[in-house]
Amino acid sequence: MPRFERLLLTGAAGALGTELRRDLAGLARVMRLSDREPVSPAKAGEEVVRCDLADADGMLALTEDVDAVVHMGGVSRENTFANILESNIVGLYNLYEGCRKNGVGRVVFASSNHAIGFYPRTRTIDASVPHRPDSFYGVSKAFGEDLSRYYFDKYGIETVCLRIGSCFPEPVDRRMLATWLSYPDLARLVSRSLLAPQVGHMVVYGMSDNLEKLWDNTMASSLGYVPKDSAETYRERVEAATPVPDPRDPAVRFQGGGFTAAGHFED
Ligand SMILES: NC(=O)c1ccc[n+]([C@@H]2O[C@H](COP(=O)([O-])OP(=O)(O)OC[C@H]3O[C@@H](n4cnc5c(N)ncnc54)[C@H](O)[C@@H]3O)[C@@H](O)[C@H]2O)c1
Repeated sequence: MPRFERLLLTGAAGALGTELRRDLAGLARVMRLSDREPVSPAKAGEEVVRCDLADADGMLALTEDVDAVVHMGGVSRENTFANILESNIVGLYNLYEGCRKNGVGRVVFASSNHAIGFYPRTRTIDASVPHRPDSFYGVSKAFGEDLSRYYFDKYGIETVCLRIGSCFPEPVDRRMLATWLSYPDLARLVSRSLLAPQVGHMVVYGMSDNLEKLWDNTMASSLGYVPKDSAETYRERVEAATPVPDPRDPAVRFQGGGFTAAGHFED
């Protein structure tokens, strides 16, 4: 039995959007799928609307008659400031304005661990620490967490911000042994974020049940999120395939990994 009349999934042509399109299908009578890139044709119970997040009028129409939004759309790694500004800052503002004007009650926002990437790996942090972004990309996710808090405090739009670690089919480097989020656990976390009775404004980490942890994810448990996968399953294979890290390398010292060591994107 669908729990929503219509769910909007942005970034539906992307890696995580493609997974969630399939995994969230039973939750809504209609799943509205959107991206600026082509999305494969709508099946039963789906509608496809091509839209750029930077198009304010388009976003107003996109959020019409929607109960909740799963926002995966946006630039998903470091890029030029202009591109980040357009998709992740102006785009997010357009999304929340659409939600406000159309009375959408809840958003699940794909934030990122790169909003806190400059915390050292020796420290376990929870979701209440101040931002320490490691890139323009990370700054845009920190902005998204604050913008969504503003829209909750002022207009009551609920948001769960998911600080996603590394969401891939399997961990492929040593950092991911701590930061990995499996695709099935992503679907579990997004479902709980949509279905939990009251969430207000929350920030949680998107991580599987990994033995090695950078983050205390108690807040996610309060949503009813119970991860079922663990990066530990892959440890032997990952360690055999990757060199022993140099502990002085910033990419090893800080939680954001390679993003902390990379130079200015446009240089
Ligand atoms: N995959 C991960 O490990 C990971 C980690 C942390 C955060 N995230 C976040 O999760 C979300 C999904 O990640 P992904 O791996 O699927 O990325 P992806 O790049 O595969 O998908 C992002 C999608 O957003 C779309 N998009 C970008 N700018 C747009 C715009 N202006 N208008 C409309 N659509 C636009 C792209 O076309 C793309 O299809 C992103 O917001 C990303 O920042 C992902």
